[in-house]
Amino acid sequence: MYDMNNYKIKHDAVILGIESSCDETACAIIKGRKILADCVISSAEEQALYGGVVPEIASRAHTDVVDEVVYRAMNEAGITPQDVDAVAVTYGAGLLGALLVGLSFAKSFAHAMNIPLIAVDHIRGHMAAAYLEDTELKPPFITLLASGGHTAILHTKSVLKAEVLGGTCDDAAGEAFDKVARVLGLPYPGGPSVQKLAEGGVNCIDFPSALVKHGDGLTFSYSGLKTAVINYMHGAEQRGQTVKKENVAASFQCAAIDPLVKKTVECALNLGVQTVTAGGGVVANDYLRKTLSDACLSAGITLVLPEKKHCTDNAAMIAAEGLNQYYAGNFSPLSVNAKASIPLNNNK
Ligand code: KG4
Ligand code: ZN
Repeated sequence: MYDMNNYKIKHDAVILGIESSCDETACAIIKGRKILADCVISSAEEQALYGGVVPEIASRAHTDVVDEVVYRAMNEAGITPQDVDAVAVTYGAGLLGALLVGLSFAKSFAHAMNIPLIAVDHIRGHMAAAYLEDTELKPPFITLLASGGHTAILHTKSVLKAEVLGGTCDDAAGEAFDKVARVLGLPYPGGPSVQKLAEGGVNCIDFPSALVKHGDGLTFSYSGLKTAVINYMHGAEQRGQTVKKENVAASFQCAAIDPLVKKTVECALNLGVQTVTAGGGVVANDYLRKTLSDACLSAGITLVLPEKKHCTDNAAMIAAEGLNQYYAGNFSPLSVNAKASIPLNNNK
């Protein structure tokens, strides 16, 4: 019988994290904030054949490898199931069929071992990656969050409470990278391909900034920028002009990233917050990492920038957020279901 009512919270707990929201099947094990194992099996190569993530292929791939990835992580950490104190798993947002594979595995594990199940919001996981980079990190901090589904600037006031300061009103930054990659004829995944091409180009095309000019000054739009790039490419094609795609990529990258970096640092300065962190797949972008590092340095702000492998989808970040929820005693019933979307200001 799974009953966590009298469960006693342990210090430096061993958390097993599982992530399966998109095309990465991942398992990580942490003890406190120290990573013992960090494994990912990706179906990205197979997805690339179709130019993007096919949900059914993702679900099947997770089913094929979820037990293997957990087994690998246990081996890497040198532990047995009896050593695990709690299981943290992504329950949303993401592809439902994909999420259900990880969630079902995690429920079975928690039930079999009679240990707490912790259902983690994927986005809170991206934000928690910073705790692995700096194991002493404590709120308050400002986070620049940019992934395939979300783009926002958040103020984490306490471990469980984050306030959304601003964000996109339409597409996410990662989504724009993926669509621009497609119009430039680059392979999936789009973000890394655009970055690579941009490295050989210069910012010389005047694309509209992702920052919305009117309003609160913290609203971003990636749909307009994406359309501007598409129109630029189609216009050139119709006129029979050859386009330097490197320059298109470099100019798009600046228009997409510069305002995010600038506004993140401004938020920290305006609110008197000394630390900036970042998370989400787009934060693996080298141009973003460099401009954010430079901007924080010249503003005298401490930057906690997770390793690239902890910006794109991984299970260590899910375990890290699981640990936060574990210490707060936020355990989930075995009836918890997967969710395709979760509001960004979902504080537990
Ligand atoms: O966080 P993530 O792995 O999955 C989601 O939660 O969405 O983010 C994936 C997104 C994709 O849109 C991908 O193109 C983008 O992150 N991305 C990048 C880079 N690496 C991944 N975007 C720009 N530059 C990169 N190097
Ligand atoms: Zn993600």
